[in-house]
Amino acid sequence: MYRTHSCGELRIKDLNKEVILSGWVQQSRDLGGMTFIDLRDRYGITQLVFNMDVNSGLCLEARELGREYVVQIKGKVTERSNKNKNIPTGDIEIIVSDLNILNRSDLPPFTIITDTDGGDELRMKYRYLDLRREPLKRNMILRHRMAKETRKYMDSQGFIEIETPFLIKSTPEGARDFIVPSRMSPGEFYALPQSPQTFKQILMVAGYDKYYQIVRCFRDEDLRADRQPEFTQIDCEMSFVTQDEILNTFEGLIKHLFKSVKGIDIHDSFERMSYKDAMDNYGSDKPDLRFGMQIKNLTDLVKGKGFGIFDNAEYTGGICAKGCGDYSRKQLDELTGFVRRPQIGAKGLVYARVLENGTVRSSVDKFYSAQDLGTWSERFNAAKGDLMLILAGERYQTLSALNELRLELGKRLGLRDKNRFIPLWVVDFPLLEWDDETKRYYAMHHPFTSPKPEDMAMLETSPGDVRANAYDLVINGIEIGGGSIRIHNKDLQQKMFKALGFTEKEAQHQFGFLMDAFRYGAPPHGGIAFGFDRLVSLFAGLDSIRDVIAFPKNNVGKDVMIDTPSAISEEQLKELKIQINLQNQKKTRES
Ligand code: AMO
Repeated sequence: MYRTHSCGELRIKDLNKEVILSGWVQQSRDLGGMTFIDLRDRYGITQLVFNMDVNSGLCLEARELGREYVVQIKGKVTERSNKNKNIPTGDIEIIVSDLNILNRSDLPPFTIITDTDGGDELRMKYRYLDLRREPLKRNMILRHRMAKETRKYMDSQGFIEIETPFLIKSTPEGARDFIVPSRMSPGEFYALPQSPQTFKQILMVAGYDKYYQIVRCFRDEDLRADRQPEFTQIDCEMSFVTQDEILNTFEGLIKHLFKSVKGIDIHDSFERMSYKDAMDNYGSDKPDLRFGMQIKNLTDLVKGKGFGIFDNAEYTGGICAKGCGDYSRKQLDELTGFVRRPQIGAKGLVYARVLENGTVRSSVDKFYSAQDLGTWSERFNAAKGDLMLILAGERYQTLSALNELRLELGKRLGLRDKNRFIPLWVVDFPLLEWDDETKRYYAMHHPFTSPKPEDMAMLETSPGDVRANAYDLVINGIEIGGGSIRIHNKDLQQKMFKALGFTEKEAQHQFGFLMDAFRYGAPPHGGIAFGFDRLVSLFAGLDSIRDVIAFPKNNVGKDVMIDTPSAISEEQLKELKIQINLQNQKKTRES
């Protein structure tokens, strides 16, 4: 028997018990005739004591133990004279009578204590050591509990979990596919699923009217803090449902998770906001509603006063920061620098403050009278001591820059409290998105999303105005999930492919299997998928999803622990009948 108890288990009620523990040596301290060792396992830390006067041989052996040695000890639980209130086992310690070294360890490249030392790359390379630490361990346990509670809720609602294949034909979720060559069909390739989208729709045709799956998805796209090339979805689909029924069912899932995992009761229904309102008022399709500071459109108020920038802009708008009227020159310069960053792209920032005497002073006083400025503050509902911050330019870009500025101010003013959660359904997304570069429409969600019946007629006349029966779940400014009511009619699906610029042949080649399935009685259906990693990191209060994934990729898509992506052998390439021509690729890049 390796152990009678875990290292997190023993308490004062266990005094005088003879126990056996196994674990890792976290640290060791020699104080006079005594050696103290913190023994760690997944469950906690227990202090071991070796006394030179009682057993000098054993004590000397203990002094030789290095960090992260794996040991087994036998001993007696006693009360500590110097109690440690910071750990649950802090009232007791074990007087060791037997010590057995199960394995030695090299000196680890960083210490395995709760606080992080060691840079990111080092932590990723030695992920198994980082995973021994408390913060990652806590995240793994949280993830497990959330998966368990998800399954519990979905089961209670009559959903069944069905696995779908990983070696598939490309799915159109908007990113690039990861490709897998086939040995048995040389020159042909599988794609890894960007999501199980087409399969879950086929399962609806097959009659499995409530499907879900906690499933890995693969997308070859540029990485960010909330994006990994492989990530996990709670993927769901239902038949014979309206959009409202879907939103209510999954509002139930999110409420269940908050209640069961975080002990938070959310009584109210989640707010619903149209995509248009979200863009107009927050400059984003994922507004953070933990604070107000809505964007106001000032375009009609600012034109014709001789200020060229506002006169020539398609859109002028701003936000009002309550109580920031006393911002110093330096603080305003900082904000100007912030909006001028290349990734935000504003040219400059105009500000106006409401002074204590109620008058408004702005950085463009030369062009605007006190009365003009009064109309601005009226639009913002600005009061004494408030600061209005205004940007102008092309509409979409200016709204996105205002969104960034609003979030930045929210952060600076401490309005984005990690312990408050404000969920929101964003609904009525546009069906299609125009891409200026390729001069064609793309599906905003994916090509199976149903247009709103009342907008259907516009599909051929003004496709860009058609709204979709599509929705996103946003919590605290993070897109947690998205879904839609699907097209279940073959003819409409073909019309949609046409609007997306697919020829009949291309559509048949890529999605023929789905079209075929739709010929055999496809029920009306719809669904949603949640980004499970994002949900767990939100619950954990983290800004990145990396630390809720046991073995994530770094920001260039590498796993530095196993060193991949990496070359494969000549043998493997030969078998796959693949020739690699990096030389050519390099030349192309240079040319
Ligand atoms: P969508 O593409 O919106 O929808 O994805 C659903 C959710 O998955 C999460 N997500 C990601 N998380 C981490 N890393 C990524 N690279 C990544 N990409 C997406 C987001 C997102 O909201 N098949 C549809 C769903 C449906 O229509 O039912 C789909 O995949 O939280």
